[in-house]
Amino acid sequence: MVELRNVTKRFGAYEALKEASFEIRAGEFMTFLGPSGCGKTTCLRLISGFDTPTSGQIFLDGKDLTFEPPYRRDVNQVFQNYALFPHLTIYENIAFGLRMKKVPAAQIRERVDRVVKMTSLEAFIDRKPAQLSGGQRQRVALARAIVCEPKVLLLDEPLSALDAKLRTQMRVELKQLQKKLGITFVFVTHDQEEALTMSDRVAVLNAGRVEQIGTVNEIYYKPATRFVASFIGESNIVEAEILRAEGEFLHCRLEGGLELDVRTPKPPAHSQILLSLRPEKIRLTRENPGGRNSFPGTIEMEIFKGAVDDLTISVQGGLQLGAVLTNDGQAESDLHEGERVFARIQPEDIHIVAA
Ligand SMILES: Nc1ncnc2c1ncn2[C@@H]1O[C@H](COP(=O)(O)OP(=O)(O)OP(=O)(O)O)[C@@H](O)[C@H]1O
Ligand SMILES: [Mg+2]
Repeated sequence: MVELRNVTKRFGAYEALKEASFEIRAGEFMTFLGPSGCGKTTCLRLISGFDTPTSGQIFLDGKDLTFEPPYRRDVNQVFQNYALFPHLTIYENIAFGLRMKKVPAAQIRERVDRVVKMTSLEAFIDRKPAQLSGGQRQRVALARAIVCEPKVLLLDEPLSALDAKLRTQMRVELKQLQKKLGITFVFVTHDQEEALTMSDRVAVLNAGRVEQIGTVNEIYYKPATRFVASFIGESNIVEAEILRAEGEFLHCRLEGGLELDVRTPKPPAHSQILLSLRPEKIRLTRENPGGRNSFPGTIEMEIFKGAVDDLTISVQGGLQLGAVLTNDGQAESDLHEGERVFARIQPEDIHIVAA
C-alpha cells in the first residue's frame, strides 16, 4: 500500500531521514517508534505529500506519487499539532472532509455522529476548538481524519495529550476501528508500550535511520541493534565474551565475571558479544534453585509500580541487572531492598544483540 524506496530528506545540511526503504501492507497497523527528533513526523509528511524527499521515491497503492500534492493521495493525516479550523464548530471540523467530497447530507450526519460517539465528543460538538482542552482537541483531530475513511491513515502521536485511562481506551477503539474498516494505519509514537499493544509491525527509528522493522514480537524479543534493545522495554544490555560453545549452548562471561549459558541456534562470528536479558525473564527466589544459570545477588533498589515492582539486582563483579517482581501475593513476591536473593534466567531467554 505504501512503499519508500531509498528515501532521504535533508533540511539544509541536516539529514532528517537517511535512505529509508520499506513497505507497508494494505490493512496493516504500522508504527514508527523512536525518540524525539528521530524523523517520525518527517516520514509521515513525505507519505502524505506535505513534504517531498530530497532523493528516493514514494509509492502509494503501486503508483509513484513522490511529487504529487496531498490532495491527489488517498491519505489522511492526524497532525501532531491538530491543525483544526479555528472558526468552525467541532461538528463542522469533523464534517469538513465529507462536505468537500460532496457526500449526501444524511450520510454526513450519520458518519459524523458515529465518530463523535466513538471519541466521546458528544458534549462539545457546538463549541469552537479554542473552547476545548488539549486532549479534547486531539480527539477532534482524530475524529476528523477517521470519518473520511481513507485508504491510508497517518496518525502523528494522536493519543499523547490524553490521560492514562482515556489513552488505554482509545488504543483499543482505534485498533478495533482499524480492523473493522480495513484501513492501513501508519501510527507515530515515542511510547514503546503504545507501539507494542497496537501494532502489527513496528519500525524503530533512530537519528533518521530505520534501525529495525519487524513484528512486535521480533522487535521485543529479537532486537537487531543495541539501540532497539535499549529503547524497547527496559532490557539489560550486557557485554560478554564467549568462552566456549557446546552444541546450541554458548558459555559466556559477562562484564563483572558472571558466567551464564546462552542458547542460540547459530553462534555469532565474534567472541565479543552483546547480550540482552529481559527483566521479566529473571526469576528471583530466596533459596538457591540450583541448575543452569542460577546466581546470587542483592536487591539494591526496589520501586513500587502497583502490579509489579522494578528491582535492581547487584550480582558478581558489581554488575547491575533490572528485574521485575509481580505483586501476586505469592511468597516469591515478598522480596525487598537489601535482601540476598538467587536469580535465574533460562539460556533461551538471553538474546544476542547483533550489533
Ligand atoms: N522544516 C525543517 N527545517 C529544519 N529542520 C527540520 C525541519 N523539520 C524537521 N527538522 C529536523 O529534523 C529532525 C526530525 O524531525 P521530526 O519532526 O521528523 O522528528 P520527530 O521524530 O517527529 O520528533 P518528535 O517526537 O519530537 O515529534 C529534527 O532534528 C528536526 O529538528
Ligand atoms: Mg513529530
